[in-house]
Amino acid sequence: MADLYSKKVMDHFRNPKNHGEIKDADATGTVGNAVCGDLMTIYLKIKNDTIIDIKFLTFGCAAAIATSSMITELAKGKTLDEALKITRKDVADELDGLPPIKMHCSNLAADALHEAIKNYRKKKTKK
Ligand code: FES
Repeated sequence: MADLYSKKVMDHFRNPKNHGEIKDADATGTVGNAVCGDLMTIYLKIKNDTIIDIKFLTFGCAAAIATSSMITELAKGKTLDEALKITRKDVADELDGLPPIKMHCSNLAADALHEAIKNYRKKKTKK
């Protein structure tokens, strides 16, 4: 496995950042991966339209865990508009690439983040 993945992927897989749940989250986003059935949830704490805390729970492969960890690092401190601009490719690039057969795993992280932001905005417009 170590040959397949970059050092950064292995680091984030072994020591994921921001792993866990935020009990009083302002928004959550859950997405499933149609290819493998894996599941990821992103939890957000938001203040003044900025992500002040972010955590994830992922039931997935090493690449899914590493990309979840990386996206929390990329999104923390960003405004919602900036966080929406984080793409699947940004996450893979930050990890120094993913093996081609694992690129679908990086979709989960960006999609779950975008989903959480969309849910937050939907909730706000209803109030
Ligand atoms: Fe399912 Fe990677 S194999 S997310």
